[in-house]
Amino acid sequence: MMKILVTGGAGFIGSSFVRFVIRTRKDINMVNFDLLTYAGNLRNVEEVATNPRYQFVHGDMAERTQIQTLFQEHCFDAIVNFAAETHVDRSILDSAPFVRTNIEGTRCLLEEARQRKIAKFVQISTDEVYGSLGSSGAFREDTPLDPTSPYAASKAAADLLVLAYVKTHRVPALITRCSNNYGPYQFPEKLIPILITHAMENRPLPIYGDGLNIREWIFADEHSRAVLLALERGTPGEVYNIGSGEEKTNLEVVREILRLMEKPESLVQFVPDRPGHDRRYSLDCSKIRREWNWSSEVGFSAGLAATIEWYRKHEDWIREVKDASYRAYFDRVYTRRDETLAISATQPQNLLSDTYKTRP
Ligand code: NAD
Ligand code: DAU
Repeated sequence: MMKILVTGGAGFIGSSFVRFVIRTRKDINMVNFDLLTYAGNLRNVEEVATNPRYQFVHGDMAERTQIQTLFQEHCFDAIVNFAAETHVDRSILDSAPFVRTNIEGTRCLLEEARQRKIAKFVQISTDEVYGSLGSSGAFREDTPLDPTSPYAASKAAADLLVLAYVKTHRVPALITRCSNNYGPYQFPEKLIPILITHAMENRPLPIYGDGLNIREWIFADEHSRAVLLALERGTPGEVYNIGSGEEKTNLEVVREILRLMEKPESLVQFVPDRPGHDRRYSLDCSKIRREWNWSSEVGFSAGLAATIEWYRKHEDWIREVKDASYRAYFDRVYTRRDETLAISATQPQNLLSDTYKTRP
């Protein structure tokens, strides 16, 4: 029996991984350690909550003493670090929680891994660390890091720390870098759940700039399947790209959602662009195809249809997460977009203070 620590397992992708591992692997015990920020939600892991192989611990991975206590109480064989601040738009308004959780939080885990002689450490990173592509080419694992947003910079810094701990302290860590995820349980601040939940209510669907930015979309459960392979077969010190090969412009994404939901294209609303908006991401995933025989098996339209069905059946979940702090965030980033972007361009202030609430 292996015992693993999963951080951020109450979030979107972390909860997919938690549900997947508990459902499919009877030989793995798990502790889900999560701060339950605005993005963390215990309803995402409701189906495993009473499973004897699963335990939830509420805590902050950027608090070293909390991590020390956690490791005194549990003997972990491996760590999978999903926990992070993850939304680019929020990082533009206030980078402080990104630096704290994504960099200092990862450092706290690495320190503990070093002292406890953990057998495997999987750092969940992102394709955004590579920066932006033109109309051709794809990021390889050895593409130099060139992050654009504060979010991407904080993830790149964490990646460099991980690689430094591999070299200096022989921590057996590896890094996965995945493309854009979508699927059930995604917090409605990211593109696809915003579009679906707005279309459900016949509200305008906000598209930044000209809508021609390109992302490579992967169904989150497919990402989870690859992360389990990384845990079991990944080599310390290595980086692994994870993607679907399905590149779409944002306009193609919104049109496909409107088609599947039988809603008119007149709902699309172009809004001022995100500052520093990366134009295109694309991943070369030949390494994991070759080494693990992994490729994504869920096509974009099928995954999108399943995602739409899930949101339609979970209006109570949507209502709950679109609480007062969500509405305050939405007001700043969308309703008062021009004003907010103008302020964030000129004044060094935290525009999100009352929207960063940790759940009790
Ligand atoms: P999310 O925002 O949905 O969830 C993040 C989780 O981390 C939440 O449950 C939150 O409560 C928890 N958390 C935040 N700060 C914490 C702290 N200090 N201590 C403990 N827990 C904390 O994120 P997601 O979209 O599921 O992303 C998960 C990981 O995958 C992140 O590392 C992200 O960078 C990476 N990633 C995301 C995508 C994507 O498209 N969403 C793509 C590639 C990589
Ligand atoms: O590529 C992986 C990354 O994907 C992850 O590391 C991040 O955690 C995750 O948030 C995601 O980043 P993006 O910035 O690509 O995702 P987002 O859903 O915010 O935006 C996707 C595209 O849609 C991007 O081009 C911006 C655009 N967009 C986004 C929102 C929220 C809009 O046009 N309108 C919107 O309202």
